[in-house]
Amino acid sequence: MAAYREFKEISPNASAGAKLTNWLENRFPTAFDAYKVHMSEYYAPKNFNFWYIFGSLALLVLVIQIVTGIFLVMNYKPDAAKAFESVEYIMRDVPWGWLIRYMHSTGASAFFIVVYLHMFRGLLYGSYRKPRELVWIFGCAIFLALMAEAFMGYLLPWGQMSYWGAQVIVNLFSAIPFVGPDLALLIRGDYVVGDATLNRFFSFHVIAVPLVLLGLVVAHLLALHDVGSNNPDGIEIKGPGKPVDDKGHPLDGVPFHPYYTVHDIFGVSIFLFIFSAVIFFAPEFGGYFLEYNNFIPADPLKTPNHIAPVWYFTPFYSMLRAITSEMMYALIACVVLGAGYGVLKAKLPGFIKGGIVVGAAVVIALMLSIDAKFWGVVVMGGAVIILFFLPWLDCSPARSIRYRPGWHKWLYAIFVVWFVVLAYLGTQAPSPVGERVSQVGTLFYFGFFLLMPWWTRLGTPKPVPDRVTFKSH
Ligand code: HEM
Repeated sequence: MAAYREFKEISPNASAGAKLTNWLENRFPTAFDAYKVHMSEYYAPKNFNFWYIFGSLALLVLVIQIVTGIFLVMNYKPDAAKAFESVEYIMRDVPWGWLIRYMHSTGASAFFIVVYLHMFRGLLYGSYRKPRELVWIFGCAIFLALMAEAFMGYLLPWGQMSYWGAQVIVNLFSAIPFVGPDLALLIRGDYVVGDATLNRFFSFHVIAVPLVLLGLVVAHLLALHDVGSNNPDGIEIKGPGKPVDDKGHPLDGVPFHPYYTVHDIFGVSIFLFIFSAVIFFAPEFGGYFLEYNNFIPADPLKTPNHIAPVWYFTPFYSMLRAITSEMMYALIACVVLGAGYGVLKAKLPGFIKGGIVVGAAVVIALMLSIDAKFWGVVVMGGAVIILFFLPWLDCSPARSIRYRPGWHKWLYAIFVVWFVVLAYLGTQAPSPVGERVSQVGTLFYFGFFLLMPWWTRLGTPKPVPDRVTFKSH
């Protein structure tokens, strides 16, 4: 902790502004130090590009969600008998209520768009690699918290989709052997989604999860500023042997303020243009941001024909639906192949190989004896959890995509296409063709990550320069 600090003296002839700053600095030096460490003397690489605006946009959307959320709560009623009409009241009678509500509902989708792009940037430039593993892990935890936040928020308008979506997802927990049914009961607080569920989701949505999110975002940024930002070249700008100026600042860096504050303000302006256009002209966004069925009050006696989550969950929802009892055989074949490779090819001690055989036999026995629905839940959860391990799965000698073999770009492009296809299929009613395609997509998604230690080592990387470069993308 900072010990006693001498007061900084200031000339009696200084301007009123300088005197006020001096007064504050002497009484709250921590704030001034934080400004220096995180803004004016935080040196960020000078070659940031378009992909680097999404972090600050995520911060902006977080603030928008919190502020609009506070105003929504002033008129919303977390009561199964009143929730739907209180949202209608906000939309029709509360002055500017429609704007606040559309900002919040569009903000939820904008949050996921921004965060998906932010994560993809990490993948492109290897931003999760040493020494930024914790920055990435905090990011993945943020992503999980964000999913929980969005899921619980979606129940609050108490429309048909809110109700049945929650019913379907909470019921998934009951597929977990032994504890499942009790766990589902604990989450719902009742035998079906009801008033108790609405109350607890409300309380988590407005305070518990936002607090966790805020804490994680602070940890994410502190960890980032401790190790310094990566950049599109994936080259460190700080550390031993890196060129510095006479004050010890990295030559390949610029102070965050004013350079990146201006860069981010530009990004914010473009974002707000698009955000406002959606809010004012297409707030439902063709049923993707606000589903049509959710304009019908929840009716526990009438199940909608087609229940689908909001678009940002659909890639994972597709993976859940892809795991049929038939697909289990494909998954068992994957386990056999993986174990076979470990035993026959990998250079491992005998006892580990023995462990692999026993482990694989146990897993296969469980896969045959527990219902496919449970494995669907495991696959859906696994699709997010696997992201946490990315720093250790990627073994490429080059960090940034720029210096990796050219075909890596194609692989990333195919990955994105599959992710979008899975997202699309998740919005559609189940069909035999859709099921098959989503099964292939699921295998590709997991193959991409699980086989990373192998494919990232293939091919010859391009020579990585010592200093950062200025290619636009
Ligand atoms: C509320 C959500 C989030 C906020 C507010 C946020 C904020 C930020 C900010 C302001 C930066 C620095 C600027 C930039 O590099 O863009 C950053 C960097 C980073 N974030 Fe996030 N982030 C969020 C979610 C995530 C998620 C979900 C992940 C990954 C799973 C992630 C991974 C990273 C990484 C790896 C960096 C370092 C990038 C680099 O130096 O190249 N973040 N984040």
